[in-house]
This record gives sequence, structure tokens and C-alpha cells, in this order.
Amino acid sequence: MTHLAQKKIILGITGGIAAYKSAELTRRLKEQGADVRVVMTPGAKEFITPLTFQALSGNPVSDSLLDRDAEAAMGHIELARWADLILVAPASADFLARLSHGFANDLLSTLCLATSAPIAVAPAMNQLMWKNKATQANCHTLKQRGILLLGPNSGDQACGETGLGRMMEPDQLVSATASLLRNNDPQAGPLHGKKVVITAGPTREALDPIRFISNHSSGKMGFALARAALAAGAQTIIIAGPVYQETPNGAERINTVTAKGMYRASLEHAPSADIFIATAAVADYRPLQIAGQKIKKSAKQISIELTRNPDIIAAVAALPEKPFTVGFAAETNDLINYAKGKLQNKKLDLIVANDVARSDIGFNSDQNAVTVISADKHQNLAQANKDQIAEQLIKIIASAL
Ligand code: CTP
Repeated sequence: MTHLAQKKIILGITGGIAAYKSAELTRRLKEQGADVRVVMTPGAKEFITPLTFQALSGNPVSDSLLDRDAEAAMGHIELARWADLILVAPASADFLARLSHGFANDLLSTLCLATSAPIAVAPAMNQLMWKNKATQANCHTLKQRGILLLGPNSGDQACGETGLGRMMEPDQLVSATASLLRNNDPQAGPLHGKKVVITAGPTREALDPIRFISNHSSGKMGFALARAALAAGAQTIIIAGPVYQETPNGAERINTVTAKGMYRASLEHAPSADIFIATAAVADYRPLQIAGQKIKKSAKQISIELTRNPDIIAAVAALPEKPFTVGFAAETNDLINYAKGKLQNKKLDLIVANDVARSDIGFNSDQNAVTVISADKHQNLAQANKDQIAEQLIKIIASAL
């Protein structure tokens, strides 16, 4: 776990019985060579004393936003800048709620707002509090913002109940922290310092308030690419259509519904991106008129007039300072020719061609087999799961850059 050596970690402790485990966690992080500064909320101090953490971390413990002496020694903004990582363990339901709403009403929540370092939280609470929709919604928001959720584990709880809500064990937290820092390490990944924007999933084009035109895209390939881009050290943004895919830890997710919505989000983020990958199955057409009321089945036959949607990737590739632009060509026939045509017409740097007529690969499958085509070469990637294909694609993209 060398990735913890000399890393500056703020260990945030909030009010919960699991705070006693954080004493052990402090010791373990120190053993791995990390420089740990503990920040406690008022609730945390009801469970364990700052003195314990001061002794274990070898650093003064901070617990107040408005303490003049502490501010004079290392102000809260300075502390936020100092950190390579903020790890909040245990993170109480109350703290998760405050973090998800951007509160700055104590030192720890203020540091989380003021830092540019990655943030990881290890929830710990009663299992019903964890299951509560409010807590789940707060965690969903945090994940979407790229905050890493570590756990909780399942098992016996201090309150006598059993279920999800136990804080992860110190050993697990140490290794999760090390891998988070590894992913953010400049030497660790070929795409460190690069910004990757990926479109994923289908779009939906409304016919009336309850019906839409869409397609079978699952978003699996796009999310696999996002995981691979993150592992390669890239800042990763996923612009997703309506799909049920877990947001990878550390990625920013922007949810969109229509092609126009995905177009707007893409054109907002692509100009500052180094790489733009379009895996989304964007609806080429949308109904010209969206009926204001539910369309009733009175007529024997109806026609729907469709109009062309903007071509997102072509618009990105036409930007004055375009990112390295990678398209996907899903075809049912004449795969290579159609893909080459799209590479040229849309002015892409690379196109990944896949045969969606095959049921063992493509749209809803976990497997894929693709041909990567650039202006001067072809490369076949043999059938493998989408994560493996994604890793190979990210390697190819990184070396093409
Ligand atoms: N694409 C896009 N915006 C669109 C349509 C497609 O960004 N409005 C992107 C896709 O994400 C993919 C590439 O363009 O990376 C090729 O998509 P595909 O659907 O295969 O091609 P189309 O241009 O839509 O052409 P056709 O449907 O005629 O095959």
C-alpha cells in the first residue's frame, strides 16, 4: 500500500458509536506512512476524545470552525488545500445529509466544500436509518458528485439490530483509500490530468406526455469505458441517457433524456475535454410535434412526423479546439464500410465498429467484439466482456493521444 506513503489525509470523524474504530483506522493509516490530521464534529467528541486522536495521529485535532487559535495555526482553507484526500469515517446520516446539501455549518462540512481533493465517506448508522429514502437519496446525490461511498457493511449493530449500516472495518478502509489515491496518482494512469467525456445509453423522444421513441441501448459499454478511464487516472464525466447503471466511483454523471438534452450537455463539457467518446445510441429523429395530451386511439391509423436530431459527435468534432473524438458505429450489415464512412463524414479520430445483429455481443449483452478503425489502420479486439474491451480501448486511445 505504498500509495498512502506521505499522503496527506484529513480523517473526518462524525458522531456515531463506530468512532471508536477510527482510532484503529488512524493507526493503520499512519503505519502506511500517511500524514493524518483528524477533524471531529461536536457529535464525534461525545463518543471519543480528541486526545486519543491527537496521540495516535501525532497532529493536533481540529474541531471548530470558529477557533481563533486553530485558525491562526492552520486556517480551514489552508487545511482544505493541504489534503490529498478527505476520508469521513464514520459518516453519520446527519453528516451525509449536510454534505449532500452543501452545508458549511461545522469545520468538517466546510472543509469538504472548500477542498479540491477527492472525498470518501464510510457511512455508519442504524440499518433503518441507512435504508431510509432520505439517506439513500443523499447518498445517490453524493455518488453523482463523484464522492466515493465506502460501505456500509452488513452485520450485527451496536443498537442490537442486524443489517446494512456497520462501518467498514479499518483494514478495508485503508485498502479502499489506497486504491482511491492510486487512481488519483499522477504516475498511476496514462490518462492522468486528462478530461474524458463519455455519452452513454439511449435517448428518449417524447410523443405525448406518457410515450416516447427510444432504443435498446443499455449504456453498459459507456459505463465500462468510464470505469476504464477513471482507472487510467482521467477526470471522467458521463453524460447518460435513461439507463440503470451504477455511477462509477469518482465519475461525474449528468443525466439527460432527449437527444437535444444530451447535445446541450455534450457541447457544454466537450470544449474543455481532451477526449470525447460517444457510445450513446442517440435517436436520429424526434417527433416534430409533442402532443400536449395523451394521444387517444380514435383513428384507425395515425402517422407521426419526425424531424432530425442534431448529430452530437459531429458537432463536437467540428469544435475549433476539438477533443480527440471517438465514435461507435453500431451496424447490422456492411460493418466496416459504414464505420469508415462515419469516421470520415463526422471527422472522427477513431471509430469503434460493432455488429449489433449478433445477439451474443452488442446492445444488451455483457460481451462485445469490435474493430477499431482510424484513418490509417484497423485493429480487431476479440470477443471479451465489456470491461476488458473498455480497458483495451482506453489503452489504444491513450497511446493515440
Ligand atoms: N451519434 C451522435 N449523435 C447522433 C447520432 C449518432 O453523437 N445524433 C454518434 C453515436 O454516439 C456514435 C456515432 O455517432 O458514436 C455513430 O452512431 P450511429 O447511430 O451508428 O450512426 P448515425 O450517424 O446515427 O447513422 P445511421 O443511424 O444512419 O447508421
